[in-house]
Parts: sequence; structure tokens; C-alpha cells
Amino acid sequence: MPMICLSDFEAYAKNHLPKMTWEFFAAGADECCTRDDNLLAYKRIRFRPRMLRDMSVMDTRTMLLGTEISFPVGIAPTSFHRLAWPDGEKSTARAAEAMNTCYITSTYSTCTVEEIAAAAPNGFRWFQLYIHRNRALSEGLVQRVEAAGFQGLVLTADLPYTGKRRADIRNNFQLPPHMAVKNFEGVFEEESCSEYGFPPNFIDPSISWNDIYWLQSLTRLPIIVKGILTKEDADLAVRHGVQGIIVSNHGGRQLDGGPATIDALTEIVDTVQDRVEVYLDGGIRTGSDVLKALALGAKCVFIGRPALWGLTYKGEEGLREVLQILHDEFRLSMALAGCHNVSEIGRNLVQFSKL
Ligand code: FNR
Repeated sequence: MPMICLSDFEAYAKNHLPKMTWEFFAAGADECCTRDDNLLAYKRIRFRPRMLRDMSVMDTRTMLLGTEISFPVGIAPTSFHRLAWPDGEKSTARAAEAMNTCYITSTYSTCTVEEIAAAAPNGFRWFQLYIHRNRALSEGLVQRVEAAGFQGLVLTADLPYTGKRRADIRNNFQLPPHMAVKNFEGVFEEESCSEYGFPPNFIDPSISWNDIYWLQSLTRLPIIVKGILTKEDADLAVRHGVQGIIVSNHGGRQLDGGPATIDALTEIVDTVQDRVEVYLDGGIRTGSDVLKALALGAKCVFIGRPALWGLTYKGEEGLREVLQILHDEFRLSMALAGCHNVSEIGRNLVQFSKL
């Protein structure tokens, strides 16, 4: 079966992964309303395409905080890549490097930040941080990340506690014993670890906007805040001096009943007014989804689950295929809509369906 679209990779992953792993990747919180709405919301948006514009020359490149990437799709942080492929995050890093795009590495990777950096020495990477109750541990990790050449720090803001994912509870999800949250190897007693490979109550639920200042005192890296869904928080993020915002609901894994990210994007873009870059993740499954998100003001989008499906299929090669398909679909959608380059993609390209 040739793999021609992202849902082919999803079907492959569903058929080949152990049930517990598949359901961990697929899970949303509670009734999964927000997870599902992330995808459905794209279907409510229609294009206003322009014709007869000589589409023989096109350019999909863009810039992320001053670094050029080949097209506006990066890899969102997701945990435990070795559940999908033996080489785990090393394969992810190689695929992102080969496709010249940005890979946001999760705090909960199953390879260390040093191993990931060595696997793809010329790759463009940001590191996603969860802040732990033991602040010294987070501080040490930020220093390692900076030393390993990561170029940005992504603070995830929407997880003071982990959302209630019914499938993981029913399956009694456990990280297999031969895998570990590698960045903290040796730090915890194995017996004290919860299902996700670290002690329960490990993440600091007290984090607040003031912690942006704390992070700024620790690192020279640009700070991007992930998990923003309202104009009020977008404004606070800008006023606290972050360099970027990722509009995200964690793939619907945290608060069920929050908005689809594409529906939250417009008020945030309007409030931010180009003071910082605004990105989005959640529900991107086709090149035309990417075009819609850019039309509504995202500078770049990130894929979470589709990257895991690509890794499951064939490691680095499978993830490269996923990215290549999205690249080709995005380029074709741009061409059919009459956009030669990303700077020509604007809000007049879309209308909201009255259906
Ligand atoms: C995630 N996500 C996530 N986010 C984060 O900041 N740190 C993390 O460690 C993880 N881990 C994680 C694991 C899995 C299995 C999933 C599916 C998601 C959320 C992720 O970064 C992103 O917000 C969503 O995955 C985007 O939605 P899509 O592309 O999966 O629809």
C-alpha cells in the first residue's frame, strides 16, 4: 500500500502498535471533545482562491525567530519516541534535520538531549520544558540544553496537572521497564515512578507568569510559551517578554471543552499585532490545514501525533515521508489558491463556511 496522506500513517500505526501505546498516543482528556474539534474546525473553513497568477515559480520557505526552515511545519514536543521506534528521538532529530525544519524536543524524551544533539548535529531544535518542584533539576536541564546547542526554550503552560486520559487509566499505561525519561536517569528511585516514568506530583503546579522572569534569568535562549488559548494570556505573554507563542490545547489532552486551536488563533493574532511570533499546533493533518492556519496568522504550525505515526512506520524515513507529504500538499494548496510564497498568504484567503 503506498502511503499518500497522513491518515495512511495513522492507520498503519493503529494496526501495528500495541493497543496500550496506540491509545496513549491517540488519547485526549475526558470525552475527547477538544481533541476531535481540533480536526473538525478546519472543515468549517473554506478558501477564497485566486486564479491566473502564473504559479510556475513558488517558494515555501519561512523564518522562525530568524532561522530559515524549508516550509512552515515543525515537530511539536511529544514524549517517549522509543515507544514508536527503537532509536526514538534520535530518528526524529535526523528526520527534522534532513527536511530542514524545527524539532521541539520534549522534556520527557527517551534519549538524552546530548544524544539527540549528536544524532543530528546541524539540526534546528528547540527544547520543551516542564518545570519541576525541584527547581535545581530544571535549572540543570536548561543549562544542558543550552550547552547541547538547542536554539529556543518552549515553556509548556497548560499542564499544572496531567489531564484525565481515560484510556491510559483503563490500560494501566506504564512506560516499559527498558525505557526511561532519559534526561533524569538516575535521579529517581525506580519504585517511586508513576506510569509516565517519573514520580507523581513531580511537575510544579505553582508555576505562574513570574516564572518567565526566572527562566530569563537562567538562559539567553529565546522563550516561547506553549498552550495559550486567549487574547488575555497572549497579551500577558508579550508583556512578560517572551519571543513566541504557541497556540495549543495539548492536542486535547488537558482541558476537555477548550476551543479548537484554529478557532482560538484569530483573537490571539489580533492582540499580539506582530509584537512576537505566533505559532499553532493541534489537528494539522493536511497541507490545506497548514494553509488555513497561516491565512489566519500563524507563522508556522507543528505536528504532534502525525510525527509519531511516521516514526512508527519507518523511524527517520517514515517521519521524513510524513513531512514530505505535508510539504507537497502545502505547496500544491498554495499553488491552487494563488499564493507564490508565504508572505502572500493572508486572511482574505479564507472564509468561514455557513454550514
Ligand atoms: C503530547 N504533547 C506534549 N506537549 C508538551 O508540551 N510536552 C510533551 O511532553 C507532550 N507529550 C505529548 C505526547 C503525546 C503522545 C501527544 C499526542 C501529545 C502535546 C503536543 O506537543 C501537541 O500540542 C499536540 O500533539 C498537537 O496536536 P496533534 O498534532 O497531535 O493533533
